[in-house]
Formats: sequence, C-alpha cells, structure tokens
Amino acid sequence: MPTTVRVALGQRSYDILIGRGLRRAAGDFLRQSAEASHAIVVTDDNVRPLYGEAFASDLRALGFRCDILSVPAGEPSKSIKHAEALWHDVSRLGCDRRSTIVALGGGVVGDLAGFIAATFMRGLPFVQIPTTLLAQVDSSVGGKVGINLPAAKNTVGAFWQPAGVLIDLDVLTTLPEREYRAGLAEVVKYGVILDAPFFAYLEQHIPEINRRDPAALEQIVARCCELKARVVEQDERELTGVRAVLNYGHTFCHAIETVTGYGQFLHGEAVAIGMACAARLAESMGRVKSDFVLRQRELLEKVGLTTAMPRLDEGQLLDAMRRDKKAERGKIKFILPMRLGCVEVVSDVDPELVRKVL
Ligand SMILES: NC(=O)c1ccc[n+]([C@@H]2O[C@H](COP(=O)([O-])OP(=O)(O)OC[C@H]3O[C@@H](n4cnc5c(N)ncnc54)[C@H](O)[C@@H]3O)[C@@H](O)[C@H]2O)c1
Ligand SMILES: [Zn+2]
Repeated sequence: MPTTVRVALGQRSYDILIGRGLRRAAGDFLRQSAEASHAIVVTDDNVRPLYGEAFASDLRALGFRCDILSVPAGEPSKSIKHAEALWHDVSRLGCDRRSTIVALGGGVVGDLAGFIAATFMRGLPFVQIPTTLLAQVDSSVGGKVGINLPAAKNTVGAFWQPAGVLIDLDVLTTLPEREYRAGLAEVVKYGVILDAPFFAYLEQHIPEINRRDPAALEQIVARCCELKARVVEQDERELTGVRAVLNYGHTFCHAIETVTGYGQFLHGEAVAIGMACAARLAESMGRVKSDFVLRQRELLEKVGLTTAMPRLDEGQLLDAMRRDKKAERGKIKFILPMRLGCVEVVSDVDPELVRKVL
C-alpha cells in the first residue's frame, strides 16, 4: 500500500503518494488529482529513455493524449532559453482545460516544468513525478518553481503548487551514487532541524540507507515529505520565518556553490558542508555542545558525505553570503541549531565568528 501525505493548503491542497511501481498507476493519479486527459510530460535526456518513453506509452494505453518534451540533463537547462523553447512547444501542442504538465525528473525538471506550468496561459495544473532522492524529499513538495539567471540561481520564479506528487521509489535504483548521497544530505537536514527521533532512526539504519533498502527508503522519504508538508502548510510563501528553517546549512552552502562556480559540488554535497559549518558556528556561540557537532558529522560521513570545508577564499565566501538573496541589508541570516530537532533564525552573528568557521 502506498503512503499518502496530504499537504493542506486550502484550495491548493494536494496529496503526495509514496510507494513502489507507482508510475504505472499514474493515469489514475492524473485523472484524480488534475482531472487531466492530456499530459505534457517534461523530462530530461537521461530520464526520458529510462522512464519517460515507457511512462508516456502507459498513459496513451490508458486513453490519454500524451506528448513528451525533453531538455538536456543538468542545471543549465533551468534557463530563460529552455523556458522559452518550452513555452513555444507547449503552445504548439495546444492546451485545453484538461491539459496537465507532468514534471518527470529531478529538481531541475521539476523547477523548470513547474515554472512553465505557473506561467503558461497564466497557469496550468501540474503534477510532480520526482526521480532523484533530492527531488523526492525536497524540491517536488512545496510549490517553489523557477529558473536561473546567468548571474544568480533561482531568481525568476513563482509559488505554484502541484496538483499532486507521485513518488515511485523504484526509480531510485538507477540513480548515480553521487546523486543519491547528495540527496541524503537533505534527509539528514530534516532530522537536525525538525525531528530528533528521525535523526536517531537514520543513525540506526545506516547499512540499509547505504544499500538503498526499499523499506527504509519508504520510511525516510515519507517522513521527509511529511515534515516538509507541515512546514509549507504553516508558511507557504516563506513570509513568517517558519519555512526558513529548511535553509539550515544553506547560507554556507550557497556561498560555496557561488565561489566554486556551481561546477565542483552537487547541491547536496555543499549542503552537508554547510550544515557542518552551521553546527560549528553554533558551537562557537555557545548554542550547542561539541557532541551535537560530532553526532551530525558522524551521520553525514557514514552516509558517504564529506563535511570538511574545502580551501576557498574567505573574503569571497563572506561576500557571497552578504549578497545572498536571503540576506537583509547586508546582514547575513543563519539558521542555527539550539538542540537536535530544533533550529532558529539568527541574524546578528559576529562576522569574526563566521570567518573562523570558514
Ligand atoms: N523547488 C525547490 O523547492 C527546490 C529545493 C531544492 C532544490 N531545488 C532545485 O533542484 C535542482 C537539483 O535537483 P536534483 O538534485 O534532482 O538534480 P537534477 O535534476 O539535475 O538530477 C540529477 C541528475 O540525475 C539524473 N536523474 C534523475 N533521475 C534519475 C534516475 N531515476 N536515474 C538515473 N538518473 C537520474 C538527471 O538526469 C541528472 O543528470 C536544483 O536546480 C535546485 O535549485 C529546488
Ligand atoms: Zn537544499
């Protein structure tokens, strides 16, 4: 039986369905959640031959009209150029009230296809079928969609909730090792920021996690979706600060990504390092003890993530943090732990302490 997590957002409420072999049930899900009879599947060139074609022919066999559009795999596809091409493609294919965009892929496809859905004809329904661990536990839930500008990531976008999220854990078997580990960084993050028992569960299931044990993954993905759903319900548009807790480790992470030009680290890899930095910063402020820092580091390392800060220019990192879109008037905001399972937003951190952590 699949697990269902409801995201309660009034008229924009939707279900996340988590289980195995689910993409074969996508037809029912599309009809129920988006009342669709025409699916425009947006995917990337890696996922298309793995799952895209089979998925489209399954839908056609169920009587759907189904078109498939594909972009090159990777972050550069979250661009104005590819968004423009997709707008033209979708326009050419013709849409009516029963057309739905289906994002089948990782976070890149989800953000891009979601952005097309949010903008085309002032908004089409869309369904997320995330195929990376990161997309399953994070990017497919919560309605943030968008593209990058050449100079800044995720600067053009919208809040556009999906009509549903269908998570098929079977697709994780083909995910490259590095991508899988990167997704685990966000998993560990949920434990640290919101759920100490979940953190302990992860500590106790390291062999299962490392061999992608289906039962453990089902528990883990479902719990992460539930935690994210509860946060998004309280602060859909990131206005009250509740949703900001999800950015734990991300101030450091974004600075690392910016300074290394987005080429060296996968997002999750930079998140792991960023979490280690945030923990050490909190320790230097006397907010947590060294055992917190150690416990977090051990878990991250046991699931194959590096936590050591790479050799990078401190000045450049600090500059990048001050220019971060979440900084206010040059004041860098950090999400810092108080104890396992609990973090808060702190905006008046002594830059000297930050420098020491770097
Ligand atoms: N909207 C949000 O709330 C949110 C949150 C976090 C991250 N993001 C965004 O997500 C993006 C990163 O997403 P990602 O880590 O999923 O990267 P990605 O979409 O680039 O996917 C990673 C790689 O895995 C391949 N792939 C995907 N599924 C596969 C499968 N099942 N088997 C084999 N290969 C597969 C892809 O083709 C790609 O090469 C970033 O652009 C980031 O900004 C958005
Ligand atoms: Zn992240």
